[in-house]
Amino acid sequence: MTPLDEQALAGCVRTATLAPSLHNSQPWRFRIDGGTVEVFADRSRQLEVLDPSGRELLISVGAAVFTLRLAIGMQGRIPEVTIFPDPARPDLVARIRAGQVTTPSAQVNALAAAIGSRHTNRLPFANAVVPADSMEHLCAAAAREGATLTRAGAVSRDTIIGLARTAEARLRGRGGYRAELGRWTRPRSYRQDGIPHTAYGPWDALEHLPLRDFGLVHPQPQRPSARFEAHPTIVVLATDDDTPADWVRAGQALQRVLLTATHHHLATTPISQPVEIPAVRDLLTDPATGRTAQIIIRLGYAAPAAATPRRPLTDILESGQP
Ligand SMILES: Cc1cc2nc3c(=O)[nH]c(=O)nc-3n(C[C@H](O)[C@H](O)[C@H](O)COP(=O)(O)O)c2cc1C
Repeated sequence: MTPLDEQALAGCVRTATLAPSLHNSQPWRFRIDGGTVEVFADRSRQLEVLDPSGRELLISVGAAVFTLRLAIGMQGRIPEVTIFPDPARPDLVARIRAGQVTTPSAQVNALAAAIGSRHTNRLPFANAVVPADSMEHLCAAAAREGATLTRAGAVSRDTIIGLARTAEARLRGRGGYRAELGRWTRPRSYRQDGIPHTAYGPWDALEHLPLRDFGLVHPQPQRPSARFEAHPTIVVLATDDDTPADWVRAGQALQRVLLTATHHHLATTPISQPVEIPAVRDLLTDPATGRTAQIIIRLGYAAPAAATPRRPLTDILESGQP
């Protein structure tokens, strides 16, 4: 079997960078060697204040790993993935070989088609119910990646929103939080990472939904306010355990869920403040199963959101022997 050529794999890496990441930090590097792509965590891009353990960094890298799997699948190859292949190199998160020739399945085609149109959406969502059929697909997507997705009922939804509000207030009081947020939201016209003001979304006029306020440090003049949905649809993505391998698993599951949602014309907002304060995160752990919450996702129907920039391949990709 001839290995997939380097140019095709570089194209797959470019696609993988469209994955979501905490504050659009894009904390990843890639290396192509023969028909294999290695995916590394880039610790220089870790958010030290918000994410001291690197949990969300590995969720972000996991999302890129899942996207790379799809891109290789679309090249007509079966991706053979090993997570943490070398215990002596903990930042080598995955090694993915473009394996046997195959015809991409309808599911791979559908998820891959959603990669370019999935964007985090911080606009108000319609007051409409997410159909049970779509919800089943989303839960199945998480399960396929070894994670669990649970829709919050009315009571737990209000509890989670309350917890998110508490977490947001505590985070703002955490030393260095504003400075770090400011670094990732600093306006720069040529910037290829971080959150541009076009992605902040409007103010929640009733201050009901605890969406992260990316305009806190560099406020955008005349930012509009809007009424958000009164009863948001909230789901919790959880894993059985809470090791670095679980964080990578959660990232792969997150991207599979987000792309499935996009395919079902659903808008999505990852919400992570409640899982950034350990005491608040503990309250989201299911006492019956012991499963650990990794991230919250808001789902619904909305106008399309704007794309955010990505760093060029020259910054993140190397080839050949180290
Ligand atoms: C681990 C993780 C945590 C995130 N937390 C939040 C959050 O709390 N609030 C939010 O609005 N977006 C959150 N996001 C979305 C990122 O800000 C978004 O992916 C990034 O800015 C890139 O934009 P895109 O998703 O539109 O490509 C999170 C994403 C990841 C992967």
